[in-house]
Amino acid sequence: MCVNGAKNSVLKLMAACLLAPGVHRLDNVPVISDVAIMSDVLRAMGAEVVHEGRGPNGHLEITIPQDVTPVAPYELVEKMRASIVVLGPLLARYGTARVSMPGGDDFGYRPIDFHLSAFEDFGATFVAEHGYVEGHCDRLVGARIVLQFPSHTATDNILMGAVLARGTTVIENAAREPEISDLASMLIEMGARVHGAGTSRIEVEGVDELRPAYHRAIPDRVEAATLVAAVGLAGGEVLVKGARPEHMDMLLEKLRQMGMDCTPTAEGLLAAAEGRLRSVDVATLPYPGVATDYKPLLVTLLSVADGVAIVSENLFAGRFRYIDELRRMGAKIKTEGHHAIVRGVPRLSGARVRASDIRAGAALVLAGLAADGVTDVSGAEHIDRGYEDLDERLRSLGANIERVSSP
Ligand code: EPU
Repeated sequence: MCVNGAKNSVLKLMAACLLAPGVHRLDNVPVISDVAIMSDVLRAMGAEVVHEGRGPNGHLEITIPQDVTPVAPYELVEKMRASIVVLGPLLARYGTARVSMPGGDDFGYRPIDFHLSAFEDFGATFVAEHGYVEGHCDRLVGARIVLQFPSHTATDNILMGAVLARGTTVIENAAREPEISDLASMLIEMGARVHGAGTSRIEVEGVDELRPAYHRAIPDRVEAATLVAAVGLAGGEVLVKGARPEHMDMLLEKLRQMGMDCTPTAEGLLAAAEGRLRSVDVATLPYPGVATDYKPLLVTLLSVADGVAIVSENLFAGRFRYIDELRRMGAKIKTEGHHAIVRGVPRLSGARVRASDIRAGAALVLAGLAADGVTDVSGAEHIDRGYEDLDERLRSLGANIERVSSP
């Protein structure tokens, strides 16, 4: 089973195309609705976007004109808050950006203050009106930016602004996710000067212009983790081809402690499980810690493991909503502030449940694999935002799953 390209890389790589006019090519782009939304964001600005192929053969050709309409409209940002990553490229290249303010979502309140204050440090000014934030600058001027928290998309945005800023930028307490290193690699291929991506101190020397990109996105570590978690729940063995185990160290360590075999191979990652797993405590942390995106998968695994586990969420206070759905399936989970106490039960019980976001949706589908009877997951459109053909892929591994179109 091959792993697809990383959603949280591809979305930023697409935004980075705005930094140079011309024809860009991105490879390893999955057919997921978040990519379709980002394509519409770029089209709304005047770009041409063509997506062909599927899975590891999926690719995008993006043509950026000399001048774009630097606006990310409400209808699209409302569908996908990651659209905020156009702010940096637009300010850097066009000196103006009008981006709808992302609202709250299923994780609770998610501010963009780190993004805005960094661009103010770069010399931009903002006005907020009618639900939009509008930024202006002559040319961004490199600055030393100290992030209060290593925010993933704030680091992406600042990086994309810095590459065309005048002078040197230093990002302190930068996020270190592999997708940030992937973005930096593409920017370097485009002619940017970036050092230290993947560490907490990134240094960028601004250049006057960049050339179009030809880049292959890294594999999706959360999709790989989803396939590994399926093995943990259903038992058996799967080779996740193309996975990069070194991007998933902490998670794999947790899974080994739970009793799974997770072995890096020349082709990817071999995952195997037999019998009931053991409970372990988990706390989510910024990379290289255990990612918050893995947590719904881990909570699902723990809900049928032997023992009691405490799971602490340290990134998004509201990211526990799917737990009510797991309880409907017989899971014994108590939440207390940002902690969940999970008492493993031998088996879940199939029920009708609702996906509230991408990862919660995938976790509920996997919960269905460990449940007696039929599990009916509604809100499948959330899953399609981040997973190409999850149902078909799990079916090819032996799961009894089918997509039922909604009335
Ligand atoms: N934060 C602020 N102010 C800001 C930005 C962030 O207070 O201006 C806070 C957030 O509220 C949160 C913490 O900083 O408490 C970390 O948030 P971060 O900015 O790192 O998250 P993000 O960049 O918005 C990305 C991924 C998420 C993933 C998180 C954490 C993308 C498009 N999204 O979000 O992925 O959970 O990093 O790793 O890259 C997903 O794929 O389903 C998903 C939600």
